[in-house]
Amino acid sequence: MSTNRVHIFDTTLRDGEQSPGASLNVDEKVEIARQLEKLGVDVIEAGFPISSPGDFEAVSRIAALVGDQVTVCGLTRARPGDIDVAWDALKGAKRPRIHTGLGVSESHLKHKLKMTRDQALETGVAAVRHARSLGCPDIEYFTEDSGRADPEYLYRVIEAVIKAGATVINVPDTTGYMSPEEYGALFAGILNHVPGAENITLSAHCHNDLGMATANALAAARAGARQIECTINGIGERAGNTSLEEVVMALHTRRDAYGLTTNIRTEEIYRTSRMISTMTGILVQPNKAIVGANAFAHSSGIHQDGVLKERTTYEIIDPKTVGINESRIILSARSGRAGVKHRLQELGYTFHNGDDFEKIYERFLRVADSKKVVYDEDLEAIVSDEVSTVPQTYELEQLQVTCGDHNIPTATVKLRHENRAVLLDADTGNGPVDAVYRAINRIVQVPNDLIEFTVQSVTEGIDAMADVTIRIKADDMIYTGHAAHTDIVVASAKAYLQALNKQIARVSGRPEPARQLEHV
Ligand code: KIV
Ligand code: ZN
Repeated sequence: MSTNRVHIFDTTLRDGEQSPGASLNVDEKVEIARQLEKLGVDVIEAGFPISSPGDFEAVSRIAALVGDQVTVCGLTRARPGDIDVAWDALKGAKRPRIHTGLGVSESHLKHKLKMTRDQALETGVAAVRHARSLGCPDIEYFTEDSGRADPEYLYRVIEAVIKAGATVINVPDTTGYMSPEEYGALFAGILNHVPGAENITLSAHCHNDLGMATANALAAARAGARQIECTINGIGERAGNTSLEEVVMALHTRRDAYGLTTNIRTEEIYRTSRMISTMTGILVQPNKAIVGANAFAHSSGIHQDGVLKERTTYEIIDPKTVGINESRIILSARSGRAGVKHRLQELGYTFHNGDDFEKIYERFLRVADSKKVVYDEDLEAIVSDEVSTVPQTYELEQLQVTCGDHNIPTATVKLRHENRAVLLDADTGNGPVDAVYRAINRIVQVPNDLIEFTVQSVTEGIDAMADVTIRIKADDMIYTGHAAHTDIVVASAKAYLQALNKQIARVSGRPEPARQLEHV
């Protein structure tokens, strides 16, 4: 059948549900079918009706539910009993299809079916005739394990089942054995050698054992297949099936190369992917093409700069095309100034003073070195910490602490005075933070009482930023200090120094600039 439209046959609810651990209940299957209809698939393989009462119910409910644009299909073995039950489940469908078939490889004939070639061929023909006799207008025949079969026998089987009334021939590479060149050639061979093949639809059904399911399905389409069988997120037996989003987006993005179209509403792809992942509990690998968390995320400084200047520099698909709002800029140690500034601007910060941004960027790099990813909350903590304009009478230059269950907590502190003098002292305490505060007090010598000390984790995870707030009291005045750092003790020292600097500024009569972020 030579048009340039490829039909998308979704088997998430049948082959996809055969993924280890992916069991769906009937209500979930019905909800997925509704979403697949929205997505615009041509065929929904809703289940294997004779396999369980749940599958029977799912197929009949889906058959009754979907509209006349979607074919609902039920799988059967080449057995009259299976076909009767499937037909019963499908009878409410506006477009029903029975999907029956039998193995064609020597391995299947000998070990699984224990039949001769002729016996298997006759069994397949009888199955198609039986489905026809029930009045089923649309019969798909699968030649299981075609990838390892003798092509001459495959041609004979296909010719015979077409004559018996099959409307679609599914040529599965059941074990994911073939290369794209071989699988494409198999379809070309069928079209060249099987009389009548040009009048029916040839279907590609691939498994991903060698990671070639998408490439194989596309090769088949190039060679004349006009139906591709696939699953959302590529779930399925073993390494899975051809992934719907990959073939659809390959055909869409490379229309120039394939010249083929589908009826898929691509904007529904991401929503459908999330739904399948949530309901089956099968996580999508982060680097999965099209729907993985990193599919539109940019991490290195060079890429971030390129994408911010022009998205297409590093993206061949606009994320909106698949229903993802926007590309993501991941801030990490590899991010450059452009990425950090862009994110800060999105968070509402503008920088009139280049020095402020440089200070933030330098601090960002230090934080990023000790964390894998710098989140928005981390950035905000850095900004409030760095852009504070309290006069910096003392700044932390270096800090060293020893502590542990058998050590006396001891801190050595090096501070830089605004007159550039570097001052060093050490002390012990009840714990590392107490030791640090005592060492700082020995240098600064401004009496006060610590009245509050709180530590909060800014983001999640063991590598999160610690956000320390302290309040000290002197002469009935309260001074607040606040700092964030991946090291709790460093954050505590900086918060304390900030409060002390405010105290010193007040005592010495130096006004605090109006742009100060923290308030006493
Ligand atoms: O992989 C396969 O051969 C199948 C058939 C049952 C269609 O899933
Ligand atoms: Zn399969």
